[in-house]
Order: sequence, then C-alpha cells, then structure tokens
Amino acid sequence: MNETLHAAPVKIGEKSIDTEHDLQMQMLDSLSEALQKGGDFSPSRYILEQFIEFSDMHFLSEQLVMRLHSYPGYETHLEAHTRLMKKVRKIRESVFRGENAPSLELVEELRDWLLNHVASEDVAFGEFLREKEGRSA
Ligand SMILES: [Fe+2]
Ligand SMILES: [Fe+2]
Repeated sequence: MNETLHAAPVKIGEKSIDTEHDLQMQMLDSLSEALQKGGDFSPSRYILEQFIEFSDMHFLSEQLVMRLHSYPGYETHLEAHTRLMKKVRKIRESVFRGENAPSLELVEELRDWLLNHVASEDVAFGEFLREKEGRSA
C-alpha cells in the first residue's frame, strides 16, 4: 500500500470530529481496495453508500457546531462540503456504471481533496473553537 496515498488526516483537536475523519479515510481506503480487486461491484457499492451516509452526517454535525458558535467561515465551509458531495455523486454514478479504473481514480482524487479540506478548512475551524474556549475560560 502506498504510504503517502493513504496518509492519515491531520488532527484538528476536536476528538469526535477527528475520529470521524479517520473513519471517512478508512472507508475510502476500503473502497479503493474493493475497486482494485475488481470483479463484483456490490462490495464497492455498499461501501460507497456507507461513506455517503456517514459523510452526510459528519458534514451536518460540523455545520451544526459552526452555527452554534457563530463561526464566521460558515458559508464558505458549507460550500466546500457541497462541492465534496458533488464529487461523491460523480463517483457513485461511475461505480454504478461499473467503471473500475475511472472510479478508482475519482476515489483517490476525493481522498486527496478531503485530506486537504481537513488540513486547511477543518483545522481553521478547530483553531477558532480553541481560541473561543480560551477566551471564555
Ligand atoms: Fe470534516
Ligand atoms: Fe469540513
């Protein structure tokens, strides 16, 4: 397994969010493995549906915490989540068409994108939360 391809996400410092990011990456890795194996597409479809359900929940919960704390970057962050889910739908179409290599490529792209999102936008939100907690302490 390529180490850089399957690098772990950066920690943002909020335990539950960090755990969810780890799970998102693990699901994408399982999806890549299933696609690499080729053959029957039903495991890939199943993992992808799980990823979609879990990511919807994760993004909604992140957005909820942002709103609770009147995060000024909320709108931009919401747009980033929407763009990500658009990419996921593209993968879904490709997987359901039974395209192996193109699906795999899209999954690797998504993984990179998600790692970058966590390392920049999610980290920025984590810092905002810590600063806020620091001020009220
Ligand atoms: Fe996130
Ligand atoms: Fe996010």
